[in-house]
Formats: sequence, C-alpha cells, structure tokens
Amino acid sequence: MFSFFSSKKITPDLSFISVDMHSHLLPGLDDGLQELVQTMDFMRKLQQMGYRKFICTPHILSDMYPNTPETILPKLQLVRDALLENNIDVQVDAAAEYMVDIDFENLINENKRLLTFGKNFILIEMSYAAPSNNIESVIFNLKLKGLQPILAHPERYNYYLGNIKQFQRFIDLGCYLQVNLLSLLGYYGEPAKHTAISLLKKGMITFAGTDMHHENHLNALKSLASKKSFYKLFENIQIRNKELLL
Ligand SMILES: [Fe+2]
Repeated sequence: MFSFFSSKKITPDLSFISVDMHSHLLPGLDDGLQELVQTMDFMRKLQQMGYRKFICTPHILSDMYPNTPETILPKLQLVRDALLENNIDVQVDAAAEYMVDIDFENLINENKRLLTFGKNFILIEMSYAAPSNNIESVIFNLKLKGLQPILAHPERYNYYLGNIKQFQRFIDLGCYLQVNLLSLLGYYGEPAKHTAISLLKKGMITFAGTDMHHENHLNALKSLASKKSFYKLFENIQIRNKELLL
C-alpha cells in the first residue's frame, strides 16, 4: 500500500548544472566507456536527469592513455553522428583530462595543440599517490598562454585531505577547482566527502563534474540526485557550469 511517509526521494533534476565538464563518455579511449552504444545510453539517461551538454575529457597520461587530439576528435565526431541518428538532443564537446607530469610540461613548452573547452579552460589532474612536483610551474605556464587551468577533484588527493591552505594556494595561483559530484555522496570515502563539502561551502569550487566512467557512477549519481539534501548543498553557492552552454 502506498505510504505518504515511504520515501524522501525526489526526481533527479540536475538542470541547475546542465553542463557536465568532466566525463569519460567518449568510447574506447581510456578507463571510461568502451562502446558507442553505452555512450548513447549514458547520454540519454543523463539528459533525463537534466543535463543538456557534455564536455568529454578522456585521460591523457603518458603510456597508459596516450591520447592526442588525433585520437580524441574522431571519437567526438562519431558520437555526434550517433546522437543525431538516435534523436538524442544534447550538445557534445571534447577536451581532455591532462595528468600533470613531465610529458604534459613538454606539450606546453613545445607549443603543442592542447584541448580546451569553453573559452580557454583546461582540465588537469594529479596522481592520487603523490602531488606533481611541477604543478605550480604548469599552472603558471598555462596562465602565461592565456589558458585557465581547472584542477580536477581536489578532494580526491589523499595527501591534501583537509588542507584548505593548499587549495587556497592553487586558487591564489589562478587555478580553479572542480569537485566531483559523487564525492558529495561519500562515493570516494568520508574524508573526501568532508573535504568536498568544505570546499563547496567556502565558495572555493568553480565547477562540478560527474567524472563519469561506468555504470556504478551512473547509478550513484542517480541516487545522489534523488536526495533533497544534495540540492541544499548548492543553496547560495555559485558554480559556473551553466556558462558553458553558450
Ligand atoms: Fe576524470
């Protein structure tokens, strides 16, 4: 029998975000989705949750994920064509999630083509094991080129957990911070959750991303977006994802 008190769940509505600027939805490029049919399925389901645009950001990481514009951009075209064929009305773009290492520093120094999104945004990440020792010079050199670095999921770097001073240092250097939505659910553990919420409440987060790789992430996102408490976290918080619709 239906009970009035049976559920506090609400229908997911992530339209206040609208644009996902960190995802691994392009098929067969990294540890994200592998098949085009999955990409279509995920994009349709994410659209139902309120997304209108996806900026796909495959890993670029030395020998492990040796992606380049030449591997990424054809996949973008493939996905755009399939969206048209399947009548899925969402926008898709591609950039990358660059691991900050010596290879990335070389790409910058050699003036190689870098994949950016929006006007001049570039998504960067560090290893979960240790900070990149060239992170500050990379931020500086990207800024010199007129690019705006965004550090992916600061709350996931265990060596920085709770270290608000370090995050403020990145902001002072001109780097934006992007929180993973699933961190707010505790998907990556309680310490990451607390750091994520703390950064959000302090207004230190500029963008929110799904960092979507697979089915577990999709289910967790649906669960998160079905909780009233999730939407409360964003009350009086300005994130800039929607600006990327333009
Ligand atoms: Fe990612």
